Amino acid sequence: MADQNNLLVQLASIVERLNLAELFPKPQPLEVELGCGDASFLVEYARRKPERNFIGVERLLGRISKLDRKGRRAGLANLRGVRIESSYFLQHLLPPHSAAALHIYFPDPWPKKKHRRHRLINESFPALARAALAPGGVVYLRTDDTDYFQQMTEVFAASSELQKMETPQELAGIVTDFERDFNSKGIHTLRAAYRSS
Ligand SMILES: C[S@@+](CC[C@H](N)C(=O)[O-])C[C@H]1O[C@@H](n2cnc3c(N)ncnc32)[C@H](O)[C@@H]1O
Repeated sequence: MADQNNLLVQLASIVERLNLAELFPKPQPLEVELGCGDASFLVEYARRKPERNFIGVERLLGRISKLDRKGRRAGLANLRGVRIESSYFLQHLLPPHSAAALHIYFPDPWPKKKHRRHRLINESFPALARAALAPGGVVYLRTDDTDYFQQMTEVFAASSELQKMETPQELAGIVTDFERDFNSKGIHTLRAAYRSS
């Protein structure tokens, strides 16, 4: 398990769910970012929301190591990172109905038709999200890829237990690394949010 000298969770087992009470000093609502990259968004968000706990999930070691470095430099007790694949994390590691929010920002778009089956947000995802979210929990999505955005909105529209809502301005105002890059190139980005009943 993680401690304040290493914010990355050392998984004792990948078939047992995380013990959230052991991970964080305070029992607080949990938010998760899937594919957090260098964790710039999450570090800033966790700094602004000390009354919440945060987990960043990322499969690349070089990227998630930055969550550890930046989070410790900022003295964040409410942030942890898990190096693992996002769907696996939801299915096997996150306790059911434990997340107040899932943030998925600029997931890999897999633009070639034959690769689309690799997309994280597919027809199975709303059920995974529902199982991860506490009642009233929210999935926040951002992407620059119009085709992927259409797929996202279609799969969520098909789930009657997730209702579309607006992304709060305070949250929308915290840009991610990839978003900053797209903004600087004048590339339009899209966002959506869905609340679980
Ligand atoms: C385009 S980057 C976006 C990073 C960050 N969310 C942002 O907006 O700056 C996508 C990130 O998701 C990670 N990633 C992609 N698929 C993943 C998966 N299935 N599980 C975990 N991480 C994944 C990639 O390694 C990469 O760091």
